[in-house]
Amino acid sequence: MSDPKRPLPAGARCDTPPEEESTLSRREFVGTAVAGGALLASGLLAPSAADAASPNFPPGLDGPPVPAVPVTLQVNGQTHALELEPRVTLLDALREHLGLSGTKKGCDLGQCGACTVLVDGRRVNACLTLAVMQRGKAITTIEGLSRGETLHPVQAAFLAHDGFQCGYCTPGQIMSAVGFLSEPWGTSDADIREGLCGNLCRCGAYPNIVAAVREARGQKAGG
Ligand code: FES
Ligand code: FES
Repeated sequence: MSDPKRPLPAGARCDTPPEEESTLSRREFVGTAVAGGALLASGLLAPSAADAASPNFPPGLDGPPVPAVPVTLQVNGQTHALELEPRVTLLDALREHLGLSGTKKGCDLGQCGACTVLVDGRRVNACLTLAVMQRGKAITTIEGLSRGETLHPVQAAFLAHDGFQCGYCTPGQIMSAVGFLSEPWGTSDADIREGLCGNLCRCGAYPNIVAAVREARGQKAGG
């Protein structure tokens, strides 16, 4: 599980390169992203058919309204009774209906990991699952990790190791790390990189993220 050179299984969502393999500089990445955004804004790049069919596409472009249904969600130990269209994602339910904006929307396509939450203790991309499918399950978001003023050990380790720059990916990284530490991975840094490869950081904070997760795992192992 720990060989960084081993090809990933078909369909694996892991595309975070080890630091030494990264060939795109931060300046090049930002330039590419800005250029893409400019093209989209100018209309030169049209949204794809898949985007247009997304339940999160802007109102008016996503078809007629769908009747809402009652949905009860258990989030961070609290019960919330909501009325939601069946096509509302868990991500939008958390952010738009419950005001839990700590969970970030990056790509909205299951590619960046910014929306990672725990569902019954397992890592889930909240943009890829519907809220109505989460009835009866225990959902944990970044807001539910700390105990009062006491940070979760992974949160504290991210702070101690500067595991963030802009911080946008950080809630997803932390939630993913919490899930990762409960899974049967090996003990190498390569395992950390592979285990968190579904979480992208545009700032390139990967070395510090790995250091933070390594420390949190050591604390866990030490009780
Ligand atoms: S917002 Fe869900 S994976 Fe990017
Ligand atoms: S800290 Fe900026 S995206 Fe990760």
